[in-house]
Amino acid sequence: MRCTTARIGLAMLLLAHAASGAWRHAITAITLTSTLRPARGEWQAKGKMEFLWATPVMEYDGLFNEEQLCMFAKDVLEAWDAFQAAGQKDRVTNPTDTAWTQADLDRYNEKFFAWQSVTPVPMRTLETVWQAFVFAVREYVKQAEMPPLLYQRPNDAGTAIEWTTIDQHPNVQRGNGYCWAAVQANATHHDVHTHAGSSVAGTLYLSVPGDGGALSLNDPRGPMPPFDVTYRKAPRAGNLVIFPATLPHGVLPTFGSEPRISISCNHPGHWQNFTNGKVVFGEKTWETTMLTPEEHRARAAASKPEL
Ligand SMILES: *[C@@H]1O[C@H](CO)[C@@H](O)[C@H](O)[C@H]1NC(C)=O
Ligand SMILES: *[C@@H]1O[C@H](CO)[C@@H](O)[C@H](O)[C@H]1NC(C)=O
Repeated sequence: MRCTTARIGLAMLLLAHAASGAWRHAITAITLTSTLRPARGEWQAKGKMEFLWATPVMEYDGLFNEEQLCMFAKDVLEAWDAFQAAGQKDRVTNPTDTAWTQADLDRYNEKFFAWQSVTPVPMRTLETVWQAFVFAVREYVKQAEMPPLLYQRPNDAGTAIEWTTIDQHPNVQRGNGYCWAAVQANATHHDVHTHAGSSVAGTLYLSVPGDGGALSLNDPRGPMPPFDVTYRKAPRAGNLVIFPATLPHGVLPTFGSEPRISISCNHPGHWQNFTNGKVVFGEKTWETTMLTPEEHRARAAASKPEL
């Protein structure tokens, strides 16, 4: 699904009606009941868990409907247009501090990210996506049988920073830079990276053209044989992909001029809770026990395919 101009126009019309007052209650009710608290105060969407290199990766669909996705996309595109209109003004003050050169199309991604630290996508969109993300992360941690997600917050008195768990304080506050948007088109991409300083990362796709670049998930065991196994996930509008923030990942180029629009979020917490977990190091693929020649022959005979 991609948000066509007509679809985005409809979303704008609905928003305009909402703003003018007459439709406000109807629209608000639809938005809140079908996104934040769809039925009996619970999200309904289900995720699919996969263990890639024994690393849990979860993919959700159905958290939002098309109309909502296009409303979010419209907010992102407004931020993108403002960024473009400003002539991609450099808020990355020293380009040598970052990885890109003038010929590197990853720089649009870096600059738009930096732009949003000053001019974020409207909160109505970021906050709603954040709520969905936090919900999805809770499910992810449960299904992966990880230890409770520890994160830092200011204590209730506001006098110190304390460690807490998502179960003790489920209302995780969205901090600066926890969610941001990406627009990929005209061969832009995002180089492979990790989100150091966070525990779990995720991306929600809002609008995806036919040639939308894949999410590439890179082998956490390193880029040397026998590892270096890269998984590519085709982005699908409405899907939210969740993985440990330490997992190297990137976005392959989107070559056409139609934008691939997404919002990514980082969950606060300590990466060690995830990379030290039994889940991540639980892989049993590689045999390390030395076998005697006899044992070798017996094993080879046993594993011979039947013709
Ligand atoms: C891609 O480039 C074309 C031609 O310059 C431009 O019209 C279009 O807006 C660009 N797409 C995005 C998403 O910026
Ligand atoms: C989470 O990580 C922190 C920092 O390494 C550690 O102190 C804590 O014991 C970990 N908690 C769990 C439940 O593994």
